[in-house]
Amino acid sequence: MKTGSLLILPGDGIGPEVMDEVCRIIDWFESKRNIQFDKSFDLVGGAAFDQYKTPLSDATLAKANEVDAILLGAVGGPKYDKLDFSLKPERGLLRLRKELDLYSNLRPAQCFDALSEYSSLKSEIVSGLDIMIVRELSSGSYFGEPRGIKNKENGERYAINTTYYSENEIRRVARSAFEIAAKRTGKVCSMEKANVMEVGVLWREVVQDIKDNEFPQIELTHMYADAGAMQLVRWPKQFDVIVTDNLFGDLLSDCAAMLTGSLGMLPSASLGNKNANGKLKAMYEPVHGSAPDISGKGLANPIACILSFSMALRYTFDCKREADILDKSVEKVLRNGIRTADLLQKKNKKPASTSEVCDEIIRELELAN
Ligand code: IPM
Ligand code: MG
Repeated sequence: MKTGSLLILPGDGIGPEVMDEVCRIIDWFESKRNIQFDKSFDLVGGAAFDQYKTPLSDATLAKANEVDAILLGAVGGPKYDKLDFSLKPERGLLRLRKELDLYSNLRPAQCFDALSEYSSLKSEIVSGLDIMIVRELSSGSYFGEPRGIKNKENGERYAINTTYYSENEIRRVARSAFEIAAKRTGKVCSMEKANVMEVGVLWREVVQDIKDNEFPQIELTHMYADAGAMQLVRWPKQFDVIVTDNLFGDLLSDCAAMLTGSLGMLPSASLGNKNANGKLKAMYEPVHGSAPDISGKGLANPIACILSFSMALRYTFDCKREADILDKSVEKVLRNGIRTADLLQKKNKKPASTSEVCDEIIRELELAN
């Protein structure tokens, strides 16, 4: 019997509704496979603010530090737009990433064959696409100091953010990207702006050093991040693993996500150093946001969140076979033409609801079991 602990943080907007479906998938695995989770639930983001007056309470953070993995839905919503910056829902998510030091964020962008026509690009450009963006997640412009909105002596305001990277912060995410590439095709492209930013100069140098000294078998190329964005939409299949900083990774991963047809499809894993029981600290979350415009209507695509749980099975719980059958079931459902509204081209076709997609995935799991 395999066991593990999970902290489930549904969050805001469509977060709770997609997480409800993930919980049905978890229940299925617990009743049909030799695996049991010690699950706890808590609030994050706006939901936490409503209850605890903070987007992440110390008690939730303490729990997050103890579990094997966190599953997070989404944070944010217009209701919280007026809140002070430090209380905004996003701060809850960012605090989790920072305090758990989750520096390596894996964002796979895979184009399912059944969806190659849904991409905004031609199907031959995206069919079979399988890339992995490794985004540095705990440093860079998101956390660098000094930061803030300040006043000049003449009263004019100015704003400042700092892009900071130490050599060690670059080294560890580079290693993570090379290790992942070694299990794939062995190709890594590192993206920065070494032509205009010192951070980019150091980034390029350190990534190259790690490759030369520790991963000689990896094929490493470097690209400016703007050119990288252009190449991602021009010819994405030239890439296997892309490693980049926090801010560029945020942009490039949304861009890569859309190549696959919908942001509603993309899972992610955020990994840190080993904890006391020898597992990497880990949080799993869909790349899509809280989508307040569609929340509560049963329209949300649960697949990104379900695939995030599949990444948890693979990367934290050592359940490769379970992850494989879950991924295959999702693929089968898409092949059968079951689609939420984000994946429907012909608007006259009735979309499947959030829970209908999950019903179908469970039906496929049953067949595969
Ligand atoms: C993401 C999101 C977050 C980010 C937001 C919600 C803070 O866009 O995970 O990509 O900017 O990192
Ligand atoms: Mg983003």
